[in-house]
Amino acid sequence: MPKAEPPDESAYPRLEGRVTLPKLREAAAHCRACDLWKLGTQTVFGEGSAHAKVMLVGEQPGDYEDRAGKPFVGPAGRMLDEALEEAGIDRDEVWVTNAVKHFKWEPRGKRRIHAKPNAREIAACLHWLRGEVAMLKPQVIVCLGATAAQAVFGRTVRINEERGKLIPSELAPHILVTIHPSAILRAPDERAREEQRGHFVADLKKVGELLVTA
Ligand code: URA
Repeated sequence: MPKAEPPDESAYPRLEGRVTLPKLREAAAHCRACDLWKLGTQTVFGEGSAHAKVMLVGEQPGDYEDRAGKPFVGPAGRMLDEALEEAGIDRDEVWVTNAVKHFKWEPRGKRRIHAKPNAREIAACLHWLRGEVAMLKPQVIVCLGATAAQAVFGRTVRINEERGKLIPSELAPHILVTIHPSAILRAPDERAREEQRGHFVADLKKVGELLVTA
């Protein structure tokens, strides 16, 4: 994916005084830095513990998330919840967010079909992801899939080559790249699905172990 520069600061709602997570959430609700606000019902900001040591970053809200205004509450969210539980990580103690905070979709009949955000949209939304990181200062950022990894590293990341590794970065002491839970749901058969799920849980367990030893 080609690199894109984010718009300058004047494209974003201004925050008065000390920056806090609630102020960021409120400002993000009025963001017009790219055109996706015209498509999505609302901005879906991150959610979770304000003391989270782990930040999980997905791609963008889906149909369910767009309606609910909360990240990962649809089928992919259920897959994520189960995997977190199996890895011994409490969802209430992490921060769950997305690289892009509006639902990008295309109509197919009466359905709204997920459309992949482009480099410009990912770059425009980095402002909010960086804001969340600055507020939470997580020890570990988990990139769920290629779009999240592209946002966090600013480059194309091959998931199969980099998944499961702990990579230091300026954003957090550790970044772990893994698959997106939707990829498990899309697996062609039961065997592939179980295999993918096993790898996903194993990746998340590495995150859990880091927290225990920290
Ligand atoms: N997929 C994502 O990447 N994020 C969500 O919030 C839901 C589905």
